[in-house]
Amino acid sequence: MKHILFREHEVENIRELDVYVNNAGYAGLKKALGMTPDEVINTVKASGLRGRGGAGFPTGVKWSFIPKNEPVKYVAVNADESEPGTFKDRQIMENNPHQLIEGALICAYAIQAKAVYIYLRGEFWDLATQLDQCIEEARKAGYLGQNILGSTYSCEVYTHLGAGAYICGEESALLNSLEGKLGQPRVRPPFPAQKGGGLYGEPTVVNNVETLANVPFILYEGPEAFRAFGTEKSPGTKVFCVSGNVVKPGNYELPLGITFRELIYDHAGGIPDGRGIKGILPSGASGPIVPATDEVLDTPLTYEDMDKIGTVLGSASVIVLDDSIDIAWAASKMAKFFKHESCGKCTPCREGTYWIDKVLDRIITGDGAPSDVDLILNVAKNMQGVTLCALGDFAANPIIATIKHFPDEFKRYVDPALKQEKKAVAAPKRAGGAAQGRAGRGTEKTGLVPAGD
Ligand SMILES: Cc1cc2nc3c(=O)[nH]c(=O)nc-3n(C[C@H](O)[C@H](O)[C@H](O)COP(=O)(O)O)c2cc1C
Ligand code: SF4
Repeated sequence: MKHILFREHEVENIRELDVYVNNAGYAGLKKALGMTPDEVINTVKASGLRGRGGAGFPTGVKWSFIPKNEPVKYVAVNADESEPGTFKDRQIMENNPHQLIEGALICAYAIQAKAVYIYLRGEFWDLATQLDQCIEEARKAGYLGQNILGSTYSCEVYTHLGAGAYICGEESALLNSLEGKLGQPRVRPPFPAQKGGGLYGEPTVVNNVETLANVPFILYEGPEAFRAFGTEKSPGTKVFCVSGNVVKPGNYELPLGITFRELIYDHAGGIPDGRGIKGILPSGASGPIVPATDEVLDTPLTYEDMDKIGTVLGSASVIVLDDSIDIAWAASKMAKFFKHESCGKCTPCREGTYWIDKVLDRIITGDGAPSDVDLILNVAKNMQGVTLCALGDFAANPIIATIKHFPDEFKRYVDPALKQEKKAVAAPKRAGGAAQGRAGRGTEKTGLVPAGD
């Protein structure tokens, strides 16, 4: 398959400016500068491109929200890449950096922004240095800075390193962090696209790296060429980050609409030792887990189809859990992650993540009561839809979905009869501490321990 994003598979050294330019690089920007900003927005709208950062919001529509009469506008590129199991933006920036810069500049021209800020998670310091070099090369060649390619349009591009907090991937926390403030989400409205809601209070488009890296192709090849991939409602390709219990974990850029079965077995090499799959997390820790039934395995990976099976595509960080994985243990690892990453600004999330972690720990160390499972379910349900940002819902998902689909995995820890049975079987192995033993197994076998844990 031809890659839109991972062009290093077809063109060696595409990361270098001259190679990129010789392979249609910056041709999309050139074309955009010959169009009106509205024409550029309409072209992106026609492509049906949806945001790849998580929510899948239509990109052209987002750009059209920026008021035309405001003199100062910005583009913020979300390169925070903080969702557990997501490692796609890194590959794009490492191997095809100019395509991101070009896409961001096209967006900037479409909304008539004065500057682009690429916000990278703190751990991406090496990438920031590489991007800075690319930005300088592009400036020297006339692709950014004053009077881009001889036009009347001027725009600067800067990189900015965060400090490695998950919450700074949330768009309003990202803007706060860029401004040098505490990285906590803002109360909305006003939204980033509105006056008062964006960077330094000016209207701002926040887009993910992968989203923007698609834009040069859309401009240069046309929206129909983009729509040749994927489905009507989810056009284009998507980078699926596959991890967990698969033979070949990695990034796979494939058309939206391939099934879980195709992704896991045809591309990621299946499950080690021929084991079965117990559950799949289609969008890292933040989206609901789904059991690996035939129906699920044959579901196309699109924004609309994930909804039908009760989950979300998110950033498409597909974590596969084989039939040896203890789901209650996995839920507790995710609970710890969200407890650690909650910014603490609103009560249901700050308190809820703390109590879920505490009670779940009690459950998986064998000290829980049967009512504890209902207790954490209740806490999680009370976090849904009432928090300032979506992290509150994300933190509730691992609890609600794992208990819904795998109730027995929790029951065996709290049911007095089953607990005795489990203790008797597990006793010899647990001398070093039961919870530690499970964590060790998970760390080695699944790589499931998220950042920050
Ligand atoms: C807690 C939280 C963390 C997020 N982390 C990221 C992230 O690391 N990268 C990202 O692109 N979007 C992240 N998002 C989504 C952003 O808020 C925003 O929707 C996205 O950058 C918009 O870009 P898009 O329209 O191109 O997808 C996060 C959202 C939340 C609630
Ligand atoms: S939901 Fe959690 S992470 Fe989001 S603002 Fe509230 S406390 Fe902070």
